[in-house]
Amino acid sequence: MKVFTGSSNPTLAKKLAQTLKVPFGKVKLSRFSNGEARVWIQDKHPHEAAVIVQSLAPQPDQSLVEFTLIIDALKRFGVKKVIAVMPYLGYSKQDKVFRPGEPLSAKVIVQMLQTAAFDQLITFDLHNQAIVGFFNQPIIQLSAQSLFLNHFAQLKTQDTLIVAPDAGSAKSSAQLAQKLGLEVVYIDKARDLVSGKVSIKGISRSVKGKQLIIMDDMIVTGGTLIKAAEFLKKKGAVQIFVGATHHLYVPGTQAKISASPIDQLIVSDTIQAPKQYNKLKIISVAPLLAAAIKKL
Ligand code: R5P
Repeated sequence: MKVFTGSSNPTLAKKLAQTLKVPFGKVKLSRFSNGEARVWIQDKHPHEAAVIVQSLAPQPDQSLVEFTLIIDALKRFGVKKVIAVMPYLGYSKQDKVFRPGEPLSAKVIVQMLQTAAFDQLITFDLHNQAIVGFFNQPIIQLSAQSLFLNHFAQLKTQDTLIVAPDAGSAKSSAQLAQKLGLEVVYIDKARDLVSGKVSIKGISRSVKGKQLIIMDDMIVTGGTLIKAAEFLKKKGAVQIFVGATHHLYVPGTQAKISASPIDQLIVSDTIQAPKQYNKLKIISVAPLLAAAIKKL
């Protein structure tokens, strides 16, 4: 087996190869003068199996094209089994037709992904479980929750509560709270579909004097978590930790988080960090991936 990477997340791909103790495959990624992607597998001989690591971020469209071309190249080169690791499935927030006239983008992207002849696809913490049903074949969905659980278990005190920042995160927050033996605070959040602006209507219980852990599946603009942290701080929270599996590193978000009442932001490496910054802690999903791949 060899591990290959597209341009989206080479750091995680290298960590995965090290964890699996397998070599790193050589693929040259460049552009034709007309802007089209050019992919070239530069190994001498095909291996029995290849793992290709590619998230659909931070350049979702470019990453999608690279992903399909690399898999086609690997198969034509003679690789028998291709395991596609897509730690972050882009377009997953577009999981509904929110307004008449919009596409069901998450489904369209899944259909495009399936044009690539991978044998197995592994992903993490999908935004909506319905997306699993958009695939024609079974996929493996892993969760980074165990990594966060270990981290938060060390931080928690007698005064810690878990915060579910919106209705979508209620179930996973309740599960996390149960595993940590903590109570949950539910936030009533609304988002304007046109401006994307987040507003908070209320919370389910008092947070005065409490240490809070807010867990979400992803950070895009940071609007949800920053608004929640500001609201909770005003309500008397003393310390606020935030965890999210996917951090999309939208430009400007880091500065907003640094200036917010959030004390620490813990994310996984499903998306490559452009740089480390104040308050950020990154936990790697490589061991979870390696364990799942070894079982195949
Ligand atoms: C919403 O349903 C998601 O779970 C996240 O809360 C949301 O995607 C975060 O986006 P942003 O950082 O832009 O508020």
